[in-house]
Amino acid sequence: MAGPWSAGFRSLLHEHDYRIDEIDGTVPAALRGTLFRNGSGRNQLAGRWFAHWFDGDGMIQAIRFDAQGIHYRNRYVDTPNWRDENQAGRIMHRGFGKMRPGGVLVNAFRMAANVSNTSVVLSDGKLLSLWEGGPPFELDPATLATRGLQDFGGTVKAFSAHPRIDPDSGELFNFGLDYGRRTTLTPYRLHRGSLTKLPPVTLPYPVMNHDFVLTEHHLVFCLGPILVHPIRFLLGLSSFDGALHWDGGKPTLILLVPRDGRDAPRFIETEAFFQFHFANGYEADGTIVLDLARYPDYATVGQALRDYWHSDWPAAGMATLTRLRIDPASDTVESRAYAAGSANEFPKVDPRRIGKRYRYAYIACNPADRATGLQQQVARVDLESGAVACHDFGPHGYVGEPFFIPTGAGEDDGVVVAMVFDAATEGSAVVGLDARDLAAKPLFTARLRHPVPYGLHGCFSPD
Ligand SMILES: [Fe+2]
Repeated sequence: MAGPWSAGFRSLLHEHDYRIDEIDGTVPAALRGTLFRNGSGRNQLAGRWFAHWFDGDGMIQAIRFDAQGIHYRNRYVDTPNWRDENQAGRIMHRGFGKMRPGGVLVNAFRMAANVSNTSVVLSDGKLLSLWEGGPPFELDPATLATRGLQDFGGTVKAFSAHPRIDPDSGELFNFGLDYGRRTTLTPYRLHRGSLTKLPPVTLPYPVMNHDFVLTEHHLVFCLGPILVHPIRFLLGLSSFDGALHWDGGKPTLILLVPRDGRDAPRFIETEAFFQFHFANGYEADGTIVLDLARYPDYATVGQALRDYWHSDWPAAGMATLTRLRIDPASDTVESRAYAAGSANEFPKVDPRRIGKRYRYAYIACNPADRATGLQQQVARVDLESGAVACHDFGPHGYVGEPFFIPTGAGEDDGVVVAMVFDAATEGSAVVGLDARDLAAKPLFTARLRHPVPYGLHGCFSPD
């Protein structure tokens, strides 16, 4: 199966650098700065698609809003994988789903190559391109040129692509998962260029985990039973993706890691579910509240990501924006689902509310009655009242992560910026929506000179 959305996975090999000349509407004067985005730019090699969407090579986009308009630039992260496979014109390295051609022996004891394709973060003026299986690559924020691998003096092996920055202190928190004889989760704090390793947490069994929530006192993880078989992968018997196995008989483990690294971490068991992404979370009266795009399991999304370019992206089995209220005193977890249609993904909040009480989340979604297809809507969800406002990019538009950029003091005083692929024209645009009036006509639609393959995450650097 496939659908009109499928064309949006085609690679963009050319590296562009130009001022966008086709803009409908007006960019608000308060929107000034650069939106950096990351995602798989190349999904194909030698006429064949990579085995998994997560195999693609990291391509950074810098979308700069200034007094003259909008400037666009894209550039690949210059990883060894990118260089080697460009030179050879064929697959040279293992990935998340891809294997070296030639069987078990040519794959055994070779790690997945760092394709640096998941997100990008600015910390102390350093632009870091992220991929959760390895260290970041540092880039020049102005030219996007790759400066090199940044492993903080050999401290970092794995470094997740979802760091959270405390808006008051400026501290960046992150984690890495290391699969060895035992699986350890290592939390990190990065502040003023100095990286601190918090005490590693030994997990009871190896799992895959992609994101976490930062609250006032904790790093909070939801470790669903998506088990990893590291030996299968190590011996070359399967890809990393092929070494994943959902065990719904096991609980989801909620792990609370104190930010100060002093108290012992706590595990709380709850019913099995899976998530890639959290919107945010906070602490209130001894409880922890968090919002996530919650999947019943890994089956549907795991298969859709494997089939990406020819998947029908079924809605049944995909995620629902859900609030969890965790009470560590009684080990209880309450769950409440929001009515933001179907296929909820890429939840975002105002970055100034990270770890604090917040009211609004923005999420890509589809109408509730849509059975298949990638997301065509962005919803703004009032997490207090449950009210949902939607912007619809249909019938031909497919939208990625809705990124909230503040332009005023209020929590919803800002612009929601997203990349939209138009399947009718096979073109892409940068679209800005008024966060307070999401359903209205876009504030601006800036059409690019070329299509851009669907991406993942990014960050914003105000001027
Ligand atoms: Fe992610």
